Amino acid sequence: MGHLDVNGVSYYLPDGRPLLDGVSLRVGEGAKVALIGPNGTGKTSLSRIISGDLTAAEGAVTRSGGLGVMRQFIGSLRDDSSVRDLLVSVAPPAIRAAAAALDEAETAMMEVDDEPAQMAYAQSLVDWADAGGYEHETFWDVCTVAAIGIPFEQAQWRSVSTLSGGRAEAAGARGPATRARRGAHA
Ligand SMILES: Nc1ncnc2c1ncn2[C@@H]1O[C@H](COP(=O)(O)OP(=O)(O)O)[C@@H](O)[C@H]1O
Ligand SMILES: [Mg+2]
Repeated sequence: MGHLDVNGVSYYLPDGRPLLDGVSLRVGEGAKVALIGPNGTGKTSLSRIISGDLTAAEGAVTRSGGLGVMRQFIGSLRDDSSVRDLLVSVAPPAIRAAAAALDEAETAMMEVDDEPAQMAYAQSLVDWADAGGYEHETFWDVCTVAAIGIPFEQAQWRSVSTLSGGRAEAAGARGPATRARRGAHA
């Protein structure tokens, strides 16, 4: 279903110093690999070349299958981010956007509960469904049950900082993200 091929990748820092020189590696179907090395050797730069954030000076990256990138180190989240916030943060862009719109409409309705606010909220729920949000909630449920043994419905409002780093990481690593509407589950 997927593989990654890094072939002869070279990369130079802005000041011209070579950072990566002819790096090649292959990750086969189903393989789990770790890139290990001292600070400053170019691990992050190489991962950014693989994700397309940086362009290699020479060489090529080819892959098949999907690519998911967890951009922040989840274990370092020590604010009051919820489990749901965490899962949304690593979700595909369309889910992230629909979740943000839903939050905004919900907050607006809590501030002024008039008909336009209710209609906007209803629309954001329709958009959430169109974006595949409810299917995604099913996936998030698999993630929270696997990571902390609690259904997403109950786990989502828990603060990430109350979970151990490894468990938060496990939930985030499995899950791009959902939302079970409180009291309004379709
Ligand atoms: N945009 C940049 N400008 C200047 N130096 C950079 C830039 N990006 C990375 N570096 C330098 O390149 C080296 C490798 O960085 P990085 O890829 O983050 O390595 P690692 O993740 O292995 O610690 C470091 O010395 C870093 O300071
Ligand atoms: Mg790094």
